[in-house]
Amino acid sequence: MITKMRESVREILGQGAELIDHALDRLLPSAEQAPISIHRAMRHSVFAGGKRLRPVLCMETARMIVGSGQVPQGVEELGAAIEMLHTYSLIHDDLPALDNDDLRRGKPTCHVVFGEAIAILAGDALQTQAYEVLARLQCPAPQTVEIVRSIAQATGSVEGMIAGQVMDLEAEEHEPTAELVEAIHRAKTGALIRVSLVSGGIYSGGSAADIERLREFGRKAGLAFQIIDDVLDVTQNSTQLGKTAGKDVASEKATWPAVYGVEQSVKDAERLVDEAFAQLTVYGERADRLKAVARYLVERTH
Ligand code: IPE
Ligand code: IPE
Ligand code: MG
Ligand code: MG
Ligand code: MG
Repeated sequence: MITKMRESVREILGQGAELIDHALDRLLPSAEQAPISIHRAMRHSVFAGGKRLRPVLCMETARMIVGSGQVPQGVEELGAAIEMLHTYSLIHDDLPALDNDDLRRGKPTCHVVFGEAIAILAGDALQTQAYEVLARLQCPAPQTVEIVRSIAQATGSVEGMIAGQVMDLEAEEHEPTAELVEAIHRAKTGALIRVSLVSGGIYSGGSAADIERLREFGRKAGLAFQIIDDVLDVTQNSTQLGKTAGKDVASEKATWPAVYGVEQSVKDAERLVDEAFAQLTVYGERADRLKAVARYLVERTH
């Protein structure tokens, strides 16, 4: 049963990643486009081999809300824009001024290959490209505007991704408290995961009640995701992760295991996902694919 479930989530992730990779290739400036250094840098990081979890969550949410078994036309462009924003956050997260990492997605980080200046600008350009893509989404204008607003807020400096990154950096070398770690995790990672679900719901014409359920689901799944990111940093090696393992302890980061230990952290993540599933009861079997992906967020090994 578990093997069968793993198999099917692998298929869902594989199909989703293929769709997203094609969209990204189409929506990003080509590697021959001048000035070529930055376009090569953007593509280096985008196509280094990410799991594409946020776009897959977005597309599977849209499929569930539509209810026909199909994904709504063009939703992969929304997923691709989210992946551009995620990749921008990783390029900047790895910079010497932030986490100072030289390995990402199994490849040398953007600044190692292209230099710091181009890496900073490649992150910036992925962000502006994402909003250009969002502005011409294939859905009605009011929904597009709401998606743009939600994503800008979720990645911003008030309880969004940037807020979380600031808190994460400022918490280094302080004894972390449970409240602080939760606030960091909800902002730096949880908010983008939450908006991946919410925007998929808006794109597919979900009702206010649908969006509220997705927001609550995303809050719990997003927190669970970052708890496991912290756990994997302790339990896996760099080859398995494709990024430098053991980095959080070395940098004295405020992590879930630093507060609760690894064993309790895994239990907390599993509990959060189980609690999150309560939001999807009304969708019955239509939620199975999304649930499989959410389960993978906490069962993954990299
Ligand atoms: C890693 O995210 C960075 C965090 C926000 C914790 P992922 O584990 O989704 O990384 P990729 O996209 O697969 O490389
Ligand atoms: C990164 O968190 C979160 C963002 C990029 C916004 P981490 O610093 O824990 O991510 P990894 O472990 O380097 O992927
Ligand atoms: Mg970081
Ligand atoms: Mg980091
Ligand atoms: Mg981490």
